[in-house]
Amino acid sequence: MKSAFVIAFLIFIGGISQDKWKAPPEADKLKNPVAGQQEAIKGGKKIFATMCAICHGEKGKGDGVAGAALNPKPTNLITGAFHAQSDGAIFWKITEGRAPMASYKATLTEEKRWQLVSYLRTLKQ
Ligand code: HEC
Repeated sequence: MKSAFVIAFLIFIGGISQDKWKAPPEADKLKNPVAGQQEAIKGGKKIFATMCAICHGEKGKGDGVAGAALNPKPTNLITGAFHAQSDGAIFWKITEGRAPMASYKATLTEEKRWQLVSYLRTLKQ
């Protein structure tokens, strides 16, 4: 009985103590080689629709069908708070992942990850 309570408490603390996801400061120095390029934005849009929308939602609002049951929830990618970070920080997060989001280091080339960054920039509210 007592241990069940302790376990429940630890799960509760674990849930609320998950920090906001921050990229390391070095990430801010990375420059997007395809920033604002139409071809890159088109490419990123395609990749987003096939690999990311399932969780982040078709329009990036964090409302994809597979995201509803996740903890934490997929981030809303159109907010000012999201867009306040650097391209490098966004690239770093797509590269590294953080559970329940996978790392895309092995599955997407650097170029494709930058294309995604360029596309995400167009989603700003
Ligand atoms: C399995 C569901 C899932 C898929 C698929 C997924 N994500 Fe995520 N994503 C998440 C979750 C959950 C978070 C929040 C993680 C956290 O805050 O710890 C997140 C966070 C992010 C963030 C960081 C937001 C921030 O600033 O904190 C970016 C950028 C991102 N996702 C982009 C993508 C891109 C691009 C793809 C496709 C290549 C993708 N995600 C695919 C679930 C997913």
